[in-house]
Amino acid sequence: MNHNILVDFCQMLKKLKARWKVNSINLVLIITTFAMGGSLCGYLGRTILALSNLENYKLVWFVFYIIIVTLLWPLSVLAISIPLGQFAFFKRYILKVWQKLSGKKKNDLAVARIAIFASGAGSNAAQIINHFGNSENINISLIISNNPNAGVIEIAKKAGVPYLLIEKERFFNGNGYLPELQQHHINFIVLAGFLWKLPTSLIKTHYKKIINIHPALLPKFGGKGMYGNRVHEAVIGANETETGITIHYVDELYDHGDIIFQAKCQVVENETVDTLAEKIHALEHAYYPKLIAEIIQK
Ligand code: GRF
Repeated sequence: MNHNILVDFCQMLKKLKARWKVNSINLVLIITTFAMGGSLCGYLGRTILALSNLENYKLVWFVFYIIIVTLLWPLSVLAISIPLGQFAFFKRYILKVWQKLSGKKKNDLAVARIAIFASGAGSNAAQIINHFGNSENINISLIISNNPNAGVIEIAKKAGVPYLLIEKERFFNGNGYLPELQQHHINFIVLAGFLWKLPTSLIKTHYKKIINIHPALLPKFGGKGMYGNRVHEAVIGANETETGITIHYVDELYDHGDIIFQAKCQVVENETVDTLAEKIHALEHAYYPKLIAEIIQK
């Protein structure tokens, strides 16, 4: 019996983690905030009412207590959430409760649910996740990787974003993981250092809903095998004086779809692959999340 209660309790915590998209530490802090915020609210409510001399009018006292506690609860919880580092979560949570109470239904069709595909370190994925952490309309719903050792998996775990490891055979010759994308209600795909070409079926079902970032000014230095440091080596080797980043729609060819945005940086004398990679990453982090928002809002 006790064992069953424990299992149910653990399952409930797991569900909460998935629902709120948080990791275990944040879940503990959130529950603590609820508990402390609730106690603070009750204490403040009773203190205020004690000053009002309404004790003899039981019903009026009760009605006032409910009104005061309802008003004080969001403030108390927000106040406690600040030192516990959970302000962003509670701001979002209270806003949602308010929307429900005031009958303002969120239009689910207006919510973009993004899957990020990545094979490597995932620094772009991390920036994107952070950027949209508080967004009401854009939700990073799934991380997909072909590489079990990719840094992006750790990033997903820490951020509490569901992730999926995919296999070549099923991706290219099976259903392209479409059922999983549908299960997570994905309606937009962002490639951030994903090294496999996408299957045609996926490109067709998500026409103009898949974008990629490339670390050079396409159409230069793109195509099969042109990724990561290889691109920077080629840029330096070709004595280019400028390079940059390209954000583009994805079609069936490598680095080929319509260009949406480019930003440039200088290639200085004595530039190395490492210094160039750093400049390019800085540009990517500055522009990719903003561009994603702009493209989706269009
Ligand atoms: C980025 O430079 C991006 O342009 C390219 O792959 C790299 C991924 O870097 N497509 P990270 O894994 O996001 O750090």
